[in-house]
Amino acid sequence: MEFGVWSKGLAKLGVDCLILGVFEEGELSGEARSIDSVSGGALKKLLARGDFGGRAGDTLLLAELPGLGASRVLLTGLGTKKQFRRRAWRRACQSALAALTRTRIASCAIALDRPEARELDDYYLGRQVAELTGAALYRVNDLKTGKKPPAPALKRVLAGPVRKPSAAQRGLAQGDAIAQAMNVQRDLANLPGNICTPTYLAEQARALARRHTALRVRVLDEAAIRREKMGCLLAVGQGSQQPPRFVVLDYAGAAKGQAPVVLVGKGVTFDSGGISLKDPPGMDEMKFDMSGAAAVIATLGCAAQLRLPLNVVGLVAAVENMPGGRAVKPGDIATSASGQTVEILNTDAEGRLILSDALHYARRFNPQAVIDIATLTGACVVALGHHHAGVMGNDERLVQELLAAGVRADDRCWQLPLTEEYAEQLKSNFADFANVGGRDGGAITAATFLGKFTQGLRWAHLDIAGTAYQSGAQKGSTGRPTPLLADFLLRRAAR
Ligand code: BES
Ligand code: MN
Ligand code: ZN
Repeated sequence: MEFGVWSKGLAKLGVDCLILGVFEEGELSGEARSIDSVSGGALKKLLARGDFGGRAGDTLLLAELPGLGASRVLLTGLGTKKQFRRRAWRRACQSALAALTRTRIASCAIALDRPEARELDDYYLGRQVAELTGAALYRVNDLKTGKKPPAPALKRVLAGPVRKPSAAQRGLAQGDAIAQAMNVQRDLANLPGNICTPTYLAEQARALARRHTALRVRVLDEAAIRREKMGCLLAVGQGSQQPPRFVVLDYAGAAKGQAPVVLVGKGVTFDSGGISLKDPPGMDEMKFDMSGAAAVIATLGCAAQLRLPLNVVGLVAAVENMPGGRAVKPGDIATSASGQTVEILNTDAEGRLILSDALHYARRFNPQAVIDIATLTGACVVALGHHHAGVMGNDERLVQELLAAGVRADDRCWQLPLTEEYAEQLKSNFADFANVGGRDGGAITAATFLGKFTQGLRWAHLDIAGTAYQSGAQKGSTGRPTPLLADFLLRRAAR
C-alpha cells in the first residue's frame, strides 16, 4: 500500500476516487462544498432529492461528476453535526474504505471534514487513515475451498487535508506498522486450535524474530519449563497431547542498561476448561484464548519495524487446556515458579495460572513496567461488554498511561478497582490461595490473583476477553489491543 497526503487542489487530484462527507442535516462538509461548486452543484441536487441522508455508516458511490480529476466520488455519512467527534470521523472513514474495497478503485483521496485539531491532529489523521486502510483490506486466511472473491484493487490512499505534511507522513508510516501488527495478531488468533498449537505459536515467534535483526527469541520446551519450576503452567498443560512452550522475545532498541518494558501474553491455544469442562455453546471461540499472546508477538514485531528506541521483552505462555487422564483436577495443588502454592479449585481458571509463572519470570529483566494481556474472564465481558478492555494494576500512573493510550489509539480500556478486600475471596484451607474467588467481581479476583506474583513490580493487567474477538456473523479476531500497546510504547519511547 502506498500512502500519501494532500493539502490543496482536491478537484484536480489524479486519483480514482474522492471520499467526501455529508452530515445528517443534509449539509455538505467543507471539502464537499468546494467540489460541489466545481462540478456545477451536482451534489446539492442529489441531497435535495433526498438520495443520501448522511447517516453514520451510509455510503453512496457516484461516477463522472463534471470538472473533477477523479472519475468517482464516494459520499460517506458523518452523522449529526453536533455529535461529530473523532469516533464519528473514524466511523465514516471506515465505512468509506469498506465500500471502496468492493470496487475496482485503485487510488483515493480522503477529504472528510475533521473534528477540531485537538481531537484529530495531522499525526493522528495519518495514523488512523493507515490503520483503517489496513483493517479494511484484511481478509481472513480461511480454509474455504471454493473460488475466492477478487482481491481489493486499492493500492494508494491519500490523507488530507493536512497542514503539516511531515506529521501526517509520520502518522501514516506508524499507522501502517500498527495495521500490519494487528493483522499479524488477527491471522494468528483466527487460526483453528488444531493448527495454532503452542508449538506453532512458538514457531511463529521464531519466524518473526528472523525478519528483524533487533529481535531475538528463545523458546523453552517442556523440559526447560520444568527447570524453571513453572508448576502452574505445567499443571494446565498436562492434560493435553500438545506440549507447552514458553517464548521469550527480546527487542533491543535502546542501550543495554535501559530497563525494558515487559509484555506478557496469555497463549491458551484452546481452552476447553479442562476437567471443569465448558458448556458446548460457543466453545469453538476458545481458540481465541491465545489473543493476548498474539498481541504480544504482533506488538514486538511492530516495535522492531518502527525501530523504537526502547527495550521491550515479550513473554508468551503457550499451552492447551484439555481434559484427560493426566489432566489437573479440582483440588490439586500446584507450586508456582515463585514458590507460592495454589489450590486449583476450577481448572477453567487456567489463564491466571500460566500468567503467574510468566509474571514471575518477568522479574529477572528488572523491568520499567510489566503489562500482561489476557482473555482472562467472562466476568470482565459481563462488566464491560465488548467496547472497553478491563485494566487494573498496582501502579496508578501505569494504569493512567494505558487508559490514555487507549483513548488516543481508539482502542479503549476501563479501570476496575483492585483494592485489598478482594483477596479475601481467594483464601484456601490447603494452599497459599485458591485460583478462583467465586462469581462476584470475577474480573477483579482474577487480577488480585495475578497481583500475588507482581509485588514490587510496576504492573498492569489488561483483560481483553470482551474486545479481542467478535462472535456471531462477524466472528473473528479484532486485532485489539495491539493499537493501544503500540501507542503506549511510542509514548514511552518519546519520553
Ligand atoms: N478464557 C476464559 C475466559 C473467557 C470467557 C474469555 C469468555 C473470553 C470469553 C477463562 O480461561 C475462563 O474460563 N475463565 C473462567 C473463570 C472462572 C472459572 C473463575 C470464566 O470466566 O468463567
Ligand atoms: Mn478457562
Ligand atoms: Zn482461558
